[in-house]
Amino acid sequence: MYGNILPTDIALAAPNTDPVKLAEFDARIARGEKIEPGDWMPDEYRKQLIRMISQHAHSEVVGMLPEGAWITRAPNLRQKLVLLAKVQDEGGHGQYLYHAAETLGATREEMVEDLLTGKAKYASVFNYPTLTWADIGMIGWLVDGAAIKNQTMLAHCSYGPYSRAMVRICAEESFHNKQGKEMVYRYALGTPKQKAMAQDALNRWWWPTLMMFGPHDADSPNTPQLVRWGIKTKSNDELRQEFVDETAPELHAVGLAVPDPELCYDEAAGHWKFGEINWDEFWRVVKGDGPCNKERLATRRKAHDDGRWVREALAAYAARSS
Ligand code: 3HC
Repeated sequence: MYGNILPTDIALAAPNTDPVKLAEFDARIARGEKIEPGDWMPDEYRKQLIRMISQHAHSEVVGMLPEGAWITRAPNLRQKLVLLAKVQDEGGHGQYLYHAAETLGATREEMVEDLLTGKAKYASVFNYPTLTWADIGMIGWLVDGAAIKNQTMLAHCSYGPYSRAMVRICAEESFHNKQGKEMVYRYALGTPKQKAMAQDALNRWWWPTLMMFGPHDADSPNTPQLVRWGIKTKSNDELRQEFVDETAPELHAVGLAVPDPELCYDEAAGHWKFGEINWDEFWRVVKGDGPCNKERLATRRKAHDDGRWVREALAAYAARSS
């Protein structure tokens, strides 16, 4: 039950296409008002949000896997504690976002089923392997940095529960980003072997990070509607450019080389120009054929199966208590 609506109410209601209500809704968006769960909203608005928020939640939970693999191999107790805290945060972000999607009438069972069957997407970046400990620092700096860029925008999203979830999540992501930067600084300014590890990690994570912002705006079928309804307030390419403008000089400052021969600063434009993303690789990974897609889903499916007894025990307890 979310406010005064049940998921089944939504499923049974007539399609929300009333032109008067749609005009009122557009006016609310134009005034910068927050839309709340019990408010009238176009079906497409609801569908877009369920799609985006549930995939965001999947990304957080699957995103625990590449880093989680290094918890038992952290070089010291302090680094283990920091990584443990980070991975736990990501799991909590996933729960936050699944709840936000549930306020729109989606059920947890449906969303998880869509992930486990491969129907739903999650961020392609998490389908790459973490080969050395330096990857953990580079993920914190780049991947969480890109997530902050995107999520800071989403904190202004027109849908109340999503924008409020972003405020809490961005606060924790900034800790993830700072701990990653600290690690990479230490390696990049450390021994030649440590610097080589940091550079190797940058070489492997730079382009998958740029892919996190999605396809070019011209190839982004969802962006026009998301911008119209104030769900996105910046486009994929805008956010990607902001990220490169901020991150490239910081990486250079610690003596690391961005793996892009076309990267150069355009004084006239006031931006860093960069090369073209390998869109064949992007779509191959998005469609399930990346280096770790199968492994990630197999791990999620096993975790879901292993947790069946807990779900059944909770359901039995709830039935007996009602
Ligand atoms: N990985 C996987 N799928 C992607 C993708 C990516 N990097 N970029 C785009 N896609 C998919 C979209 O989901 C869409 O497919 P769908 O219609 O079947 O859902 C299709 O490619 C076309 O892309 P669009 O640009 O039209 O889609 P969007 O407008 O939704 O833009 C997005 C994609 C930028 C990822 C947007 O959905 C978004 O901002 N989502 C919310 C934020 C999010 O999910 N971030 C993921 C990272 S979470 C994270 O990093 C955790 C942190 O703790 C480290």
